[in-house]
Amino acid sequence: MEIDGVVVGVQRLRPYAHGLVWYEGLRVASSHRRRGLARAMLISAIAEAKEQGHREMRLATGNVDAVPLFESVGFEKLVDVRWWRGSRVEGGESARIPGAAEAEKLWPGIARSPGIELYHGVVADFNGARDLGSAELAGLAESGMLRVGPGGRAVAGLRRPWGDNIAVGFIAGSGGALRDLLMALRFEADADGLDDVVVTLPRDHPAADDLRATGYDFANDDDHAYIYALTL
Ligand SMILES: CC(C)(COP(=O)(O)OP(=O)(O)OC[C@H]1O[C@@H](n2cnc3c(N)ncnc32)[C@H](O)[C@@H]1OP(=O)(O)O)[C@@H](O)C(=O)NCCC(=O)NCCS
Repeated sequence: MEIDGVVVGVQRLRPYAHGLVWYEGLRVASSHRRRGLARAMLISAIAEAKEQGHREMRLATGNVDAVPLFESVGFEKLVDVRWWRGSRVEGGESARIPGAAEAEKLWPGIARSPGIELYHGVVADFNGARDLGSAELAGLAESGMLRVGPGGRAVAGLRRPWGDNIAVGFIAGSGGALRDLLMALRFEADADGLDDVVVTLPRDHPAADDLRATGYDFANDDDHAYIYALTL
């Protein structure tokens, strides 16, 4: 957005999966705020995404001021994201990485996993929330980004990290299998020389108890972080 040849606002539309476009980087110069510029830019971005034939636009935000803006144009909240952090631990085995064919078959079990509905069908990944399903599992496995616990009864999907850590975009499973997997991720962080493991988990997810029991701390009690989606 330019006014008299000066850039006063920026935003980015990034196609990141089939039919999906990620909206990010919305910023208006502090000298030009509360004049409707962000709203105008967002509306034009939605029109452009529709024109390009995308089926859905998604975004992540941690700014509570921007939430009424996104909701007023029809975005719906998919995930209320909480962050958990577990430091590296020495001495144990890393979790297994399944092959793509095996990973695909894990989906029916994951779809029944307690709390999975709180992800509302997407991976809690602020780099771009892809659809959570059998194809995603196969894709993650192919790129070495899926981990399974004992007997395939717990699963962790990794995402691209922002720091020196293992970053987890979703987990599934419960009880001992999930706890073993959560510990194995901490062992893997140590084996890879990384500081810790960061798990994004929807608010009120039952795995919070398993995270606590395996030494993870709740990292963002006061923050807000949401994933939103708009059908185009
Ligand atoms: C958030 C931001 C983009 C808003 O830009 P803007 O041009 O001032 O926004 P608009 O004037 O178009 O306002 C649109 C709506 O956003 C909400 N909003 C914007 N700023 C707000 C504030 N400071 N407090 C509360 N609500 C606010 C309001 O609902 C507003 O609608 P209204 O004016 O009809 O009440 C701008 O403050 C900014 O660049 N902030 C820093 C970067 C950032 O946080 N970006 C969002 C990341 S997802």
